[in-house]
Amino acid sequence: MNTVAVVGTQWGDEGKGKIVDLLAADAEIVVRFQGGNNAAHTLVIGGEKFVLRLVPSGALNGEKICVIGGGMVVNAFALIEEIANLKRRGVDLAGRLKLSFDAHMVMPYHIAIDRSRESRLGKRAIGTTGFGIGPAYEDKIARQGLRFDDLIDWKSFKDKLDRNIKEKNLYLKAVLKAKPIDGKTLIAELHKLRRLILPYVTDTSAYVARSIDEGRKILFEGAHGTMLDIDYGTYPFVTSSNCIASAVYAGGGVPPGKLDAVLGISKAYTTRVGAGPFPTEIYGYLGDSIREEGVEFGSATGRPRRIGWFDAALARYAIRVNGLWGLALTKLDVLTGINPLKICVGYKVGKEAYDTMPPGRNALAKAKPIYEEIPGWDEKPDAARTLDELPRDALRYIERLGELCGVPIAMVGVGASRDATIILKNPFRD
Ligand code: GDP
Ligand code: IMO
Ligand code: MG
Repeated sequence: MNTVAVVGTQWGDEGKGKIVDLLAADAEIVVRFQGGNNAAHTLVIGGEKFVLRLVPSGALNGEKICVIGGGMVVNAFALIEEIANLKRRGVDLAGRLKLSFDAHMVMPYHIAIDRSRESRLGKRAIGTTGFGIGPAYEDKIARQGLRFDDLIDWKSFKDKLDRNIKEKNLYLKAVLKAKPIDGKTLIAELHKLRRLILPYVTDTSAYVARSIDEGRKILFEGAHGTMLDIDYGTYPFVTSSNCIASAVYAGGGVPPGKLDAVLGISKAYTTRVGAGPFPTEIYGYLGDSIREEGVEFGSATGRPRRIGWFDAALARYAIRVNGLWGLALTKLDVLTGINPLKICVGYKVGKEAYDTMPPGRNALAKAKPIYEEIPGWDEKPDAARTLDELPRDALRYIERLGELCGVPIAMVGVGASRDATIILKNPFRD
């Protein structure tokens, strides 16, 4: 297959970055299509750790073309810093990074609004990453946003920006009782930054569509996860973009029907950062020990991630809304030593039983998981590169998840590094 998308099936941090990096070996082009630097995708290559926020995770697997698609919201300062950091570490993106002129710019006033709203919400806060993502998408939908296209004509850009700063500062002061941003400094900084950013700005949707027609192999890298999707997730405890596979079309510039396969990424358990319903959450000592073992602290904000059992009901939901071709299960190694393991196979909401997302998004907050128990294993599976090298009960666990989900398990992650993966099916090759 030539066009493959990778999406998260849970609440983000499933290990998308590692799988994208791995699959990029077979792709020529890697495209991010939604979200912004609220994403943090970790790659471990030769013992070195890289966290990518805006640059596609294929950047380190050969000289791939990296596309930041039109569905994204991009903090230009953060992007320039990320490019410079990568360059310092030997990864040069010059000539191979394309930034869509349709992508919207995340401005410091978006960040100020995001953070001050969250602090005013107190206990009711969403627990956003605080990177201004929601307010930037709001401006896009309200037709007030600034796009990289606008940056080409400095005079008109400056006028629009000036108007936006005035309006946002009024809102920050009068409604949010927050400090206004320094407009003069922002305009001066963006004027300087413009020269650095414009060489990357181009028509990426035309480029992607042309590349598809030419039969090139393209990998689309989703950010966040299905349960954080603005429409299909646990609203309002979600992010502000569509994170499901359909977003590839609008956000990546892919004509409908031109995506060959969608690979869903899921941990062998579940995590979530931020507030909102989480039926299989594990509290206390066991949750803490999985968090330590799996190093479950947000790569974007350092916040401890909430931990839960694998949820097959939510996996089935993600399989439906994304039309998944297969699942990559990550972090199997982290479950070593836990006996027995629990798998959520459905929910009870009141008297009703469900084997997938119960109807009405608020139902999830009331859902009581129905668990199945399965034996764990004590022998570390980190060195396994084929299924028969796994401890017997680890293999049984994987097989059971596959049965419950009803899609092929395409990959199994047994460690953070690029090669610590059992590959059963590669969408570019099989
Ligand atoms: P993403 O946002 O979906 O790309 O995921 P993150 O990078 O935020 O979080 C996943 C974390 O798990 C990262 O620290 C990865 O290095 C790590 N990771 C990915 N796959 C595996 C795996 O199979 N085993 C272990 N132990 N760690 C993994
Ligand atoms: P990756 O791509 C985990 C969560 C935040 C918060 C909610 C809204 O690394 O998987 P936002 O700043 O987007 O307005 O926050 O969404 N969130 C993520 N959680 N991984 C992510 O990205 C996330 N991106 C957003 O924690 O609950
Ligand atoms: Mg992440």
